[in-house]
Amino acid sequence: MTASRFRALVLGAAAGGGFPQWNCNCANCAAFWAGEEGVEALSQSSIAVTVDGENWALLNASPDLRGQILANPAMHPKHGKRHSPLVSVLLTNGDLDHTAGLLTLREKQSYNLFGTGEILSVLEANPVFEALDPAFVSRIPIVLDKPFDLLPGLTASLFAVPGKVPLFLEGDGPVQTDMQGEFTVGVEMRADGRRIYYIPGCARMTPDLAARIGGADLIFFDGTLFEDDEMIRMGVGQKTGARMGHISMAGPDGSIAAFRDIEIGRKVFLHINNTNPVLRPDAEERRIVENAGWTVARDGMEISL
Ligand code: MLT
Ligand code: MN
Ligand code: ZN
Repeated sequence: MTASRFRALVLGAAAGGGFPQWNCNCANCAAFWAGEEGVEALSQSSIAVTVDGENWALLNASPDLRGQILANPAMHPKHGKRHSPLVSVLLTNGDLDHTAGLLTLREKQSYNLFGTGEILSVLEANPVFEALDPAFVSRIPIVLDKPFDLLPGLTASLFAVPGKVPLFLEGDGPVQTDMQGEFTVGVEMRADGRRIYYIPGCARMTPDLAARIGGADLIFFDGTLFEDDEMIRMGVGQKTGARMGHISMAGPDGSIAAFRDIEIGRKVFLHINNTNPVLRPDAEERRIVENAGWTVARDGMEISL
């Protein structure tokens, strides 16, 4: 295979709330607060990709974005008085862990902001995002399954995966948690003959999704929970993973089983909730996912393709 310059950098490997979560004393968070060795803090859900090493696309803007930029030299300004390597920003849903960081990107810096019409409408409905000056930030609606240039030399397309509306838009009625539409999308990216996927939220595997991702060089996938009832059993919440619109790793309908027969070069779990036992390097669950061919993402992990 020819050489490639395609690179992906994990800025934040954790789900909403991060690890540890500010108000949490679950087994994992308590281990962190106690200073247990090998238990590393993780910031909230985001990756960045590049082809030329100069221009980067940010996939999801987490509330931890400022710290993520500080921690990763590739994200620092390089030229002149005002500069950022971040020239494109793409949102995969309208959740706060993926949008709050936009408020960090507001100092009259030009970039393209990509999302589906529905995801951009979540921003439009909230006047706080008017802080992003339209003279600098171009909001570009993307049609599902229609390729577009995310960066020079990098073609992306967005596709529906089962999910739900953002938590703060759920309202009081019943919520469909595996809706396929413009609210929750996966990202396919092609550059230098490589094909990678970024799917930080997905309620379940579908035949369409399995067919699409087969043969990919790399996938970053929803690793929110190990088991569906994990938060309830740990006494830190009432919700299952399914209720939150997230597939779990374990079980017959889990992601480990769903990916078993799909050929993919490298499989990485991210968007990991602070309750997920795979965050502990010595956990049996960590061995299970690694034996199944998965890597558990860490902040700062970089993958060259
Ligand atoms: C999720 O992924 O389920 C959301 O980020 C939850 C949240 O908004 O906190
Ligand atoms: Mn999330
Ligand atoms: Zn916790």
